[in-house]
Amino acid sequence: MRAFRSLLVLAAVPAALAFKSQDFKTCSQSGFCRRGRALSARASESPSWRSPYSVDASSIALSSDQASFIAAVKSSIYPDVKFSLDVRIHDDGVVRVRMDEVDGLRKHYDEAASWALLDEPKVSQQVQWKVGKDGVSAVYGAKKDVEVKVAFEPLKVTLLRNGKEQVVLNNRGLLHMEHFRTKESVAKGKEGIAVPEEGLDIDDDAQVVLGAHPRTAWFEGEQEDSWWEETFNSFTDPKPRGPESLSVDIDFPNHGHVYGIPQHATRLDLPTTTGENAHYSDPYRLYNADVFEYLADSTTSLYGSIPFMHAHSADSTVAIFNAVGSDTFIDIGHPTAKSSTSHWISETGILDVFIFPGPTPADVFAQYTRLTGTPALPAHWALGYHQCRWNYVSSDDVRTVQKRFDEEDIPVDVFWLDIEYSEEHKYFIWDRKHFPDPVDMIKDVEAIGRHMVVIVDPHLKRTNDYPVYKQATELGILVKKGDGTTDYEGWCWSGSSAWVDFFNPGSWDWWKSLFKTESQGEQWSWVDSTVDTGIWNDMNEPSIFNGPEISMPRENIHYGGWEHRDLHNINGMLFHNLTSQAAMARTDPPKRPFVLTRSFYAGSQRFGAMWTGDNLGTWEHMAVGVKMVLANNIAGFSFAGSDVGGFFGNPEPEMLVRWYGVGIFSPFFRAHAHIDTKRREPFLLDEPYKGIVRDMLRLRYAMLPVWYTAFREASVTGLPVVRPHFVVFPQDENGFSLDDQFFVGGSGLLVKPVTRKGATEETVYLPAEDQVYYDYFNDYAYRSTSSKGKEITVSAELHQIPLFIRGGSIIPTRERPRRSSPLMKRDPFTLRVALSSDGSARGELYLDDGETFSHQQGQFVWREFAAEKPTKKSKGVRISSRDLAAQKPAEAVDHVALTTYDSSNAFAKDIADVRVEKIVVLGLPAKPSSVTIESGKELRWTYTPGVASSDKKGGTASVLVIRDPKLAITGDWSILVQA
Ligand code: GLC
Repeated sequence: MRAFRSLLVLAAVPAALAFKSQDFKTCSQSGFCRRGRALSARASESPSWRSPYSVDASSIALSSDQASFIAAVKSSIYPDVKFSLDVRIHDDGVVRVRMDEVDGLRKHYDEAASWALLDEPKVSQQVQWKVGKDGVSAVYGAKKDVEVKVAFEPLKVTLLRNGKEQVVLNNRGLLHMEHFRTKESVAKGKEGIAVPEEGLDIDDDAQVVLGAHPRTAWFEGEQEDSWWEETFNSFTDPKPRGPESLSVDIDFPNHGHVYGIPQHATRLDLPTTTGENAHYSDPYRLYNADVFEYLADSTTSLYGSIPFMHAHSADSTVAIFNAVGSDTFIDIGHPTAKSSTSHWISETGILDVFIFPGPTPADVFAQYTRLTGTPALPAHWALGYHQCRWNYVSSDDVRTVQKRFDEEDIPVDVFWLDIEYSEEHKYFIWDRKHFPDPVDMIKDVEAIGRHMVVIVDPHLKRTNDYPVYKQATELGILVKKGDGTTDYEGWCWSGSSAWVDFFNPGSWDWWKSLFKTESQGEQWSWVDSTVDTGIWNDMNEPSIFNGPEISMPRENIHYGGWEHRDLHNINGMLFHNLTSQAAMARTDPPKRPFVLTRSFYAGSQRFGAMWTGDNLGTWEHMAVGVKMVLANNIAGFSFAGSDVGGFFGNPEPEMLVRWYGVGIFSPFFRAHAHIDTKRREPFLLDEPYKGIVRDMLRLRYAMLPVWYTAFREASVTGLPVVRPHFVVFPQDENGFSLDDQFFVGGSGLLVKPVTRKGATEETVYLPAEDQVYYDYFNDYAYRSTSSKGKEITVSAELHQIPLFIRGGSIIPTRERPRRSSPLMKRDPFTLRVALSSDGSARGELYLDDGETFSHQQGQFVWREFAAEKPTKKSKGVRISSRDLAAQKPAEAVDHVALTTYDSSNAFAKDIADVRVEKIVVLGLPAKPSSVTIESGKELRWTYTPGVASSDKKGGTASVLVIRDPKLAITGDWSILVQA
């Protein structure tokens, strides 16, 4: 039966079988990228190269408060073309540089930032620009250590700190905004005939070849390259607007590492694409695409794009966000080990670059997420384990799978339904033959607080018996063909399909209404679902099987007359955004929505989770998935994961077990598999594999308090949920390229998932600090040193994951095995107090109802645990719990700055009986003489002394276990351990 259905699916989409990387353009197959790279080549070949762009000094217009300025920019290549420059500094020191063509034949797309940004940022009133002879500059920052200089000729924008260059825009003179022109004016030779006067030195060789138009040729090349039309495979892209690409170089002198610009299957510390020893030959590409069987090591574009890049060195972190929504290629180089260059080449759009001054990674996260939003705080259940496959084929199948999990005592929170739930891939409409009772089935899943997630893709089957398609047609909200009037038609899972234009505000309320679960009369509503059903948005790049690069023709027209090429990379985010709003609109007051997306852009973190798409069941894909999740995390989008097990293929048990080891340390944790794969739910494994996976899942569940607390922090500060080494230890150069081990939030947990076949040992790098790192499972204490860090080798048999607690941390866990996370709501806590080398520790715990927005009204608990020596010389410790929310109400939750916090709020009262059942203290230097709570009552405890290793450099830590201290998790208390 399953095989038959699978055949049906594949037969319906023959194009799906043809996806290959050759379906996607390289730079050399893309006109605008060729032009951009050629510009860069001419620049580097010509020692006297200088940017032709300059600011007209006489045009500078300061705002009345002198906080921003605009100026006219001209290019000596095209003296008749006008540009305007707008530079401003926001309240928090972020610099925004905008440049656009003025009075051109058309408008360049200028709306990318408006979709990515939360609000229009406030311009700082503290900054005053000074106009000088050669440029405009401003000095600012608390210590007046930051300076922005805008040089007139050539135009160059530099951010300096303490007089040192940090970010330089147009450093190498690669800035070029192709102006709009007509074929006629080009034919008549009216474009680019600029007779050299003075100023520019033209390369001698170039002059010889270029004849009549030396300047243009010197700068733009000798001939037009794909200005008006371009073919790729069997597709022709008519470019009715002609050339309009944008090139800009952004260099980071004094920063030897660059990170970010997801999504690429590569290392976190981005390898070079230019220079003598370039690691890759092709630039990194951002063009959201459904890449079949993508490579595990490549610069090709994947499903999402975040044009945000960090540059890092031991004494500084800066970053830039290039708000562009079109196809973009990025070259990266390291001219020296301590500097980085980047060159951004985009097909269309205005120059709209944000420069983040840092100077620490934490500052950069705050600056970037203040602009584009912090990750939404997910529903608590969404951090549990998600079980998916393409497809659970019937209601009975779903019920049986759930039953098998329960019989085997394997925790799971979410069951997923892929496209086969729907009748002929008309999403929302159930295939009644196999799913006769959808609401009853979902309610069965929801019985113990579990959830169901159902897929809703953006392609609408073009048939009038599909109300969603019919209504969209009637409302006139479908994406149009290049003629601007005919609805576009393409192929996807549902056969001949149409796509809603979510850029059209006319689609918004309609889309939100579709998910309503109560009947709305004539109007369609999804009565066959529940208000708690989660949604999965896939194929939203958009994926179109018979389209160019498996996507939409670039000449298609969206709302406002924009071509698809202008906003392609933003398209997927709008679908995600609207679906997340729709999920919220189902109840009043709303609940936190859960919507997973495959395609994304800067700002998508506000709307839900993402996953890394159709990975392969290989060790390479398992390993690169970890790096991709980290890259997403440092680009503001923390709620990320990869398909556990690999989408394609049949992983052998060892691989599957290791993949669960990766999954339990991913912010988003879902197993998924292609329709042609064998079933591989954990209960199907033989022993010992099954038992190992069960234990791993239990570890994930035990650590949910840590994950949820990390998500709270991310939702407020923008700090990532999983943090690579450079984020936590920005000065430890040995760790700048580490991307296979990372920290979980601010908890102090350091993990290195095992992604190598046959591994029995792993090496782990411990940061350069004087600190103890405790093995989570056997309490062995490793010592690191401040001078150079330390590499340790630890046992990593199949059942083991290298996991450490950094000394100085307190980890709250819930260790009672349950079938789903909502069943843990009243479970007691264990606190693991891992003493630092100086005998102290701290940790946090955040709790709320996990599903509503009542936390924004003060319904939550945010505690701080601390361990300190009672006196300087003491060998004991005082462990206490205090109300962090009352100390810092304004920093407690996302989106609202509470002025006060009431520790007896209804949620806190509701969990007032939740206890601390165990406190484990690691690394106490001596056996306690007494362990009492503040009032003096002696507690039950046991103590196991530490055992030093023979070389005295480590050894098993001493372990004090305090049992059932009868303390409330919400209460203020302190325990005194005397030794
Ligand atoms: C795409 C998705 C995959 C899904 C399949 C069918 O390939 O990436 O996760 O299972 O479509 O919907």
